[in-house]
Amino acid sequence: MKVQKESVIKARLSKLLKTKKLGKHVYIFNELDSTQDYANTLPKSESLHGTIVLAGKQNIGKGRMGRNWVSPEGGLWMSIILIPDFSVDNIIFTQFIAALAVADAVFEITKICCKLKWPNDVLINGKKVCGILVDVNVDNETKKIVMGIGLNANIGISFINDYLTSQDLKATTLKEEYGNEVDLLFLVKSILERIEYYYDNFISCGNTSEIIDRWKQKSDMFGKKATVRDGNQKFVGRIFDIDNTGALLIKLSDASIKKIIYYDNVTLH
Ligand code: BTN
Repeated sequence: MKVQKESVIKARLSKLLKTKKLGKHVYIFNELDSTQDYANTLPKSESLHGTIVLAGKQNIGKGRMGRNWVSPEGGLWMSIILIPDFSVDNIIFTQFIAALAVADAVFEITKICCKLKWPNDVLINGKKVCGILVDVNVDNETKKIVMGIGLNANIGISFINDYLTSQDLKATTLKEEYGNEVDLLFLVKSILERIEYYYDNFISCGNTSEIIDRWKQKSDMFGKKATVRDGNQKFVGRIFDIDNTGALLIKLSDASIKKIIYYDNVTLH
């Protein structure tokens, strides 16, 4: 996001946003090492539920599993602070919520149907357009979730061509797939409103099946052949289902079911 004047951006965002809590406290920077680090290290007094951190570009953007996340100008680099009152066992649902919200927002703005890859990659035409990183900070009394969203929005493909070489997925950008630039603040608005909708529903009724069902509708992984790395072990099977805890179920060649939990590495063939 090209940040011209903090006060102008904040005023426009607050006019656009129809949320109750998300995005009501905003930190905006032209340039930052990482919005995720910034949000993770904000003191408790400034870590109010719904606070967001936005950067025009990141110098040391963080990806999952210690990877680097290349974050040039034009992308949407945002971290959202959530103060949950549910068990950390349910954290995976916040990843599903973030991925669903991004896919819904991209559809609203571009009419492109993104596909989701477990646990939380957002793909267009089989290529990754958005990555999500969820950190959980726990102290004696409170849990603080930092939901990081990195969406390759208004970025030329040449800026990101080789940055997923350490992963099995190719990368893409919204600009490449859509052919136009999008309004980044409108994207922020749309994502935050959807996160709040899914999150509040989840909190109020604790119903994981709505999120899982919606997630499954947006994924084309099921039935596909996949290799799963689990520590030093490697399994090949077919993606079978997601259970009610959010774990991925893979059917192996001997018909047994292997349950994969958060952060394992799944490669589709
Ligand atoms: C992934 O590896 O797929 C997750 C990438 C998450 C990148 C986002 S960009 C905003 C936030 N700040 C960071 O440093 N990382 C996350």
